[in-house]
Amino acid sequence: MATEIKTIGVLTSGGDAPGMNAAIRAVVRAALYYGIDCIGIRRGYHGLLNGDFTRLNFESVSDISRRGGTMLYSARSEEFKTPAGQERAVATCKMLGLDALVGIGGDGTFSGLLCLAKRGLSVVGIPGTIDNDIACSSYTIGYDTACNTALESIDKLRDTMQSHERCSVVEVMGHRAGHLALTVGVACGATAVIVPEHPVDYEADLLEPIRRARLAGRTHFMIIVAEGVEGGAYSIGKVIEEATALDTRVTVLGHIQRGGSPSSRDRITATYMGYEAVRLLAEGKTCRVVALQGENYVDYDITEALQMTKSLDQHTYEVMRALTGVH
Ligand code: F6P
Repeated sequence: MATEIKTIGVLTSGGDAPGMNAAIRAVVRAALYYGIDCIGIRRGYHGLLNGDFTRLNFESVSDISRRGGTMLYSARSEEFKTPAGQERAVATCKMLGLDALVGIGGDGTFSGLLCLAKRGLSVVGIPGTIDNDIACSSYTIGYDTACNTALESIDKLRDTMQSHERCSVVEVMGHRAGHLALTVGVACGATAVIVPEHPVDYEADLLEPIRRARLAGRTHFMIIVAEGVEGGAYSIGKVIEEATALDTRVTVLGHIQRGGSPSSRDRITATYMGYEAVRLLAEGKTCRVVALQGENYVDYDITEALQMTKSLDQHTYEVMRALTGVH
């Protein structure tokens, strides 16, 4: 028979993402609905092994859904990766009377949850990262807001690039994956998009689209580069200047993409995922990751989820190539 869950902890770990607060709120409110107490662990696994916590109630999560960042802070912890660190984390869970833990973050967060599950704690993960690189889920909390934030900056860049008839090379976050860069590139109508999943052929993927656009009468150009591309935006900028003599400027959007008030999509997805995580625990399930597949919220075993791989959406890639004139 499943252990009855009386108290759960919730933490955010790894890079923060807009919508994490909405997920925390949903976890706390759903827990209360199921008659479960909730404790917030601050500063991710670092906080867990150091006993850094705050008690959460109905009111303490009021009016946080619209805020960016995470009210629980986030951190990366090297110590937690060691067996001694994990022992200390389990000791904190015992000290706090935690029966279960909800972790909001990426694959690193889920690996941490798996270590704790192996030491007897009930755990559920929620995908929260602007990178959208969690294989088991078609969507991760924060992705939509990060796309919109990048678009806003790119629209502004376009104004000045247009005035000066320049080429803009914009580096978009995404860790090792190109999902964010590809979506942003399609949405902003980029001249070319360079992602780490496809080896770049400078002539065909970069210089030809620029030349074609130039011949068609275009006087400014927007190139989107994913941060995972070797050499990043600066090396691409150099290639363009050397080959075309276009006046080129490089902009690395960086951490600005992680901030801001979450979009409705992120607030809603986070709310459903937070609720689902608690429902699973209340029903006696453990070692699961909540995921979105199409319109449906589903869940996967954490070990299975960590073994899955996610490739770049081929259709979106083809659409991008078609619209930038790459054959
Ligand atoms: O995973 C989210 C992310 O923003 C990645 O896109 C980026 O590579 C990384 O985190 C940056 O991490 P940090 O906040 O440690 O600089």
